[in-house]
Amino acid sequence: MIELRDIHKSYMLGPVEVEILKGVDLTVQAGELLAILGTSGCGKSTLMNIMGFLDTPTSGTYSFNGTMSHGYTDDELSRIRNQNIGFVFQQFNLLGKLTALDNVCLPLIYRGTPKRERMDRAMEMLGRVGMEERALHRPSELSGGQQQRVAIARALCGQPSIILADEPTGALDTNTSNEIMELFMALNSREAITVILITHDPSLAKRCKRSVHMKDGRVTEQ
Ligand SMILES: Nc1ncnc2c1ncn2[C@@H]1O[C@H](COP(=O)(O)OP(=O)(O)OP(=O)(O)O)[C@@H](O)[C@H]1O
Ligand SMILES: [Mg+2]
Repeated sequence: MIELRDIHKSYMLGPVEVEILKGVDLTVQAGELLAILGTSGCGKSTLMNIMGFLDTPTSGTYSFNGTMSHGYTDDELSRIRNQNIGFVFQQFNLLGKLTALDNVCLPLIYRGTPKRERMDRAMEMLGRVGMEERALHRPSELSGGQQQRVAIARALCGQPSIILADEPTGALDTNTSNEIMELFMALNSREAITVILITHDPSLAKRCKRSVHMKDGRVTEQ
């Protein structure tokens, strides 16, 4: 499903070019539940952004479901992203002025789904994460774990084949982070959604079927 070959990524820090990814090779099959571990600043989010078509590598090849990432316009990449990938971020990234329901609808608005259909679907997704009773609440009226559930419902709403979660439990206490982890495990085993979970928590990584480690700009199997 995902094939990264010799991926390099550099950033300019003032006049200096700093190479963050130094030849990442990684293959992820459909149906995997994969953890990516690594210390802060090692390039995990950089890699996640490349996998989610939010950023492009300096060199190397990336293919997603057999589609090479290079050679597409930004619009085409947005469409591929919208139709295939669900993102979950550490800080939830919900829109504060919108209700939980409207936040969950967003991927479908970009897709032009009619209102009735997207409301029904969003409600169904909130149900899947146990949040239907809070559908009309705004993020500020929800706990951290509840906000992350809504963010996961939003990621699911577009029926993605893969979820990319970047430190999704980083802002949560241990109990809540366990609940969120169980939700990802259930989505993976019951609904066959591929899940890639970035974390620096080894105990969460242990619960994944496979984990890889990022170090010195490369990825190695655990
Ligand atoms: N847009 C950017 N411009 C310049 N440097 C950047 C940019 N984005 C990231 N970096 C640098 O790249 C390195 C890797 O950042 P990245 O966010 O990928 O790390 P990370 O592994 O996700 O860290 P954390 O665990 O703290 O989230 C950092 O040193 C960061 O300063
Ligand atoms: Mg990060």
